[in-house]
Amino acid sequence: MATLQIRGPVRLSGELTIHGAKNSTLPLMAAALLCQGPTVLHNCPKLSDVDVSVRILRGLGCRVKREGASVWIDPVPADGFEIPDTLMREMRSSIVFLGAILAKMGKAVLSFPGGCELGPRPIDLHLSALRKLGAEICEDYGCLTCTVTGRLHGAPISLTFPSVGATENILLAAATAEGLTVITNAAREPEICDLADFLNSCGAKIHGAGESTIVIQGVDSLSGCDHKVIPDRIVAATYLCAAAITGGSILLHGVEPSHLTPMIPIFEECGCILETDKDMVWLKAPRRLSRVTGIRTMPYPGFPTDAQPPVMAMLSIASGTSMFVENIFESRYKHVGELLRLGANIKVEGRVAVIEGVSRLTGASVEAPDLRGGAALVVAGLAAHGSTSVSGLRHIDRGYESIENNLIQLGADIRRVYS
Ligand code: EPZ
Repeated sequence: MATLQIRGPVRLSGELTIHGAKNSTLPLMAAALLCQGPTVLHNCPKLSDVDVSVRILRGLGCRVKREGASVWIDPVPADGFEIPDTLMREMRSSIVFLGAILAKMGKAVLSFPGGCELGPRPIDLHLSALRKLGAEICEDYGCLTCTVTGRLHGAPISLTFPSVGATENILLAAATAEGLTVITNAAREPEICDLADFLNSCGAKIHGAGESTIVIQGVDSLSGCDHKVIPDRIVAATYLCAAAITGGSILLHGVEPSHLTPMIPIFEECGCILETDKDMVWLKAPRRLSRVTGIRTMPYPGFPTDAQPPVMAMLSIASGTSMFVENIFESRYKHVGELLRLGANIKVEGRVAVIEGVSRLTGASVEAPDLRGGAALVVAGLAAHGSTSVSGLRHIDRGYESIENNLIQLGADIRRVYS
């Protein structure tokens, strides 16, 4: 088992280039399945979730090659329609392959994605939307068996919640469906825009991505294309938190500043100075951070739920009382118990977390409860006095490429230890 051994506090400073977005790469890899020819995705991060997606595509019969940050996908030989339970369990977001497999093969068999560390992860919005597009879906014994007679057809779909995954599955299923699909209350995240851009480059007719209403005119076929994955806005926010909590400074390259807009006011409110340029963001932290009175996680363009854990870690040593309201997931505070072991003072009541800033954190052994909670523990460990050991790295490695090497580049005293 590996752990990250961190000695702190160390003020971070330096420059980093941010890798491609995990939450864009996954649906793009599903979209490549729909094409009549090969696709190359550039700026793909080296993450375990991407590895799982490669295995899913190969399991469906695609030829997939990786060269550095580029992934070449040839879907022509694909004839499979099943995702094995093992892979569904390794990565619940494999559900995003459902729409693409169904559209391409006319059937799909996969197991119900289990809940995850963030609580039950229902897929009712995905399934009701696919049924409106003409899919017949049986849910038996934890298995989803989906079929479509002939071709999927367009339909008006109104989402009761702007679900990212459901919006992605609808785009993937509707792109080559017969006729018009209109999604109302669609998710507006940048990853939705990246997926729509990719599909339109392949010949799809999608308008309105990034807004609440998206119109998809189905086309008969899609070609492959070359596409560069957008940068990971949550990874960027995490490294900004790492610099801020240590009173340091950081220059991030390869970001899309507009994707950081919902978070920049939070860094400014706690006393950081930030500047952005075309693909860069620079942050300089104050000697001591100030509290942030109220952070409510919301669908984009609101404050992203994925940034809540690392920002909470950052504010654990701010002066004053900060408060979060987690509106997206039912239980996304599992990192709080571990932050308390580091000396943080946080109280959770349902969806509300109240952080009384402490003057210092002290090193301890902690375990990552999930992906972003693990990142929060690393952020806190960088500022904690003494040694912090972070286990549960399988979670962190799902979403952060070479986290320790990037932090060493910024001056951190951190190493991955195998026992
Ligand atoms: C995506 O998850 C991201 N994952 C999540 O990032 C992110 O937190 C989330 O969007 C919100 O931005 C990927 O893109 C792979 P949702 P997704 O469908 O699609 C409820 C990370 O750390 N819901 O927008 O699963 C659901 O229970 C991960 O990178 C239904 O009720 O998010 C949740 O409360 C974590 N029924 C809320 O909507 C459904 O059918 C948001 O879910 C679907 C969702």
